[in-house]
Amino acid sequence: MAVLVTGGAGFIGSHTAVELIQNGYEIVILDNFSNSKPCVLDRIRTISGGDFAFEQVDLLDREGVENVFKKYSIDSVIHFAGLKAVGESVSMPIRYYHNNITGTLILCEMMQKYGAKRMIFSSSATVYGTPKSVPIREDFPLSTTNPYGETKLMIERILSDLVVSDGEFSISCLRYFNPIGAHKSGLIGEDPKGIPNNLMPYICKVASGQLHHLGVFGNDYDTPDGTGVRDYIHVVDLARAHIAALREAETRQGIDYFNIGTGRGYSVLEMVKAYEKASGLPVPYEITARRPGDIGECYADPSKSERVLGWKAEYDLDTMCKDAYNWQKNNPNGYEE
Ligand code: NAD
Ligand code: UFG
Repeated sequence: MAVLVTGGAGFIGSHTAVELIQNGYEIVILDNFSNSKPCVLDRIRTISGGDFAFEQVDLLDREGVENVFKKYSIDSVIHFAGLKAVGESVSMPIRYYHNNITGTLILCEMMQKYGAKRMIFSSSATVYGTPKSVPIREDFPLSTTNPYGETKLMIERILSDLVVSDGEFSISCLRYFNPIGAHKSGLIGEDPKGIPNNLMPYICKVASGQLHHLGVFGNDYDTPDGTGVRDYIHVVDLARAHIAALREAETRQGIDYFNIGTGRGYSVLEMVKAYEKASGLPVPYEITARRPGDIGECYADPSKSERVLGWKAEYDLDTMCKDAYNWQKNNPNGYEE
């Protein structure tokens, strides 16, 4: 039996594919390369020392997705495929709803039709909206502030309705906090298109001289140094959470929700310092206005994941920064072929 990995050519999917292969899983990666490059596939093979099937299919292509389910014996799905840029989702809501929601509906339809009833879904801490306090627990109220976040929350609700209608399903929604870093080999990492929106890739490009300076979005938040605090998690720790989640999902039916973070928050200025230390390079910055929609503080209470999944983040901030730097140094232009 195989695990279908949708979006497996992407940042988190590629790291998870490596861990799955190294843990003996047979996998099929499905991706349309809308935000990734084909050369990542060989790099996954090189790092993992194993092989896998790949299908270049768009989740919106019902016939293409059905053919994948006909061709392979799939019993579980790890569902990464989706569009993820918050700002872009505000300017292109229909594209985001169509890709993320319709793609998931087609996937669920085929999972039901072909009896693949286990799913690990890539949700996000964005479903907590503006949290009432930190650290954030899974039972906190849910809300969203942009179309991207809305797609994550809608998908969680669709999956919840699905398990009510069909008790054979076993689903876990992993609510990721802020994944950064890269595989220690320096062969796979984050490769945003154009100017990065997120802090870590932006810092990497400033330190390497590709961007002039970092804009720090506000220093008047109610945080120790006034800049935004987030729960950064090494992408390899995050990848391993999927293995733990797959194993746990095998033991029960229904749906459950897990925070995937370290439980420790770092400010923007702490991130700048940590990257400077890890890379030995300066990261010039200027304080600018707050970014609309940003919250001051966001970090997880990951204790449920430790208790139920038996998973805990292992890598510290220094390792996250060193691995991010190693990836940037070896691939200054990402996966450019
Ligand atoms: P990514 O863009 O690197 O990977 C997503 C992959 O899905 C890409 O390879 C893309 O080509 C593919 N894809 C998108 N739409 C598709 C479609 N219709 N059909 C087939 N393939 C499609 O993103 P990532 O950072 O690896 O994120 C993976 C998942 O985790 C996403 O669902 C994202 O929303 C979620 N997530 C990411 C973060 C983050 O900060 N990176 C945080 C929380 C949640
Ligand atoms: N920041 C800057 N300058 C930048 C970029 C970011 O100061 O150039 C700050 C932000 O204001 C924030 C922190 O760095 O305080 C982290 O910002 P990111 O954009 O890296 O991450 P966010 O926490 O804003 O968003 C991420 C994902 C979203 C997801 C959200 C919650 O990008 O997809 O976490 O899970 F919805």
